[in-house]
Amino acid sequence: MALLPILKYPDPRLHTRAVPVQSVDHRIQTLVSDMLQTMYEASGIGLAATQVDVHECVIVMDTSESRDQPVVLINPEITERSEEIVLGEEGCLSVPAVYDKVERHARITVRALNRDGQPFELEAEGMPAVCVQHEMDHLRGKVFVEYLSPLKRDRIRTKMLKRSREEQRR
Ligand code: NI
Repeated sequence: MALLPILKYPDPRLHTRAVPVQSVDHRIQTLVSDMLQTMYEASGIGLAATQVDVHECVIVMDTSESRDQPVVLINPEITERSEEIVLGEEGCLSVPAVYDKVERHARITVRALNRDGQPFELEAEGMPAVCVQHEMDHLRGKVFVEYLSPLKRDRIRTKMLKRSREEQRR
């Protein structure tokens, strides 16, 4: 297993659209293990392959309190969405220390392949539902700050660029 570097907003590579995984082979299973390790190490609840600069449809998440219930979604597809919308605060490993409110469907059903390449369906609500929608946005090249007002987004962009310059100087 290996820790993978996480791309930080406004890195343009975060806007790459991921392609479906052709086959869940050894390469993808290694990617999944590395992504899980990277997510746990960063104390995140979800990570999309886009964020580690791999542009294939792979998501890992774990919204459990105990941090021992990993969920792997390969080629996820949302098949049902509730009409009910919830407004909740989100953060992202690619936009550290920024949290803001985003509207999401309260409940969703998602179909995907697991890490063994077997199809399964997941019904989610609450935090797992929000997490799936947030991570699936990454696969489409969308970062949550793009839901915010242009003014807020500009402020975040400036803050992130300043932060990365400071990190480079260290
Ligand atoms: Ni994110």
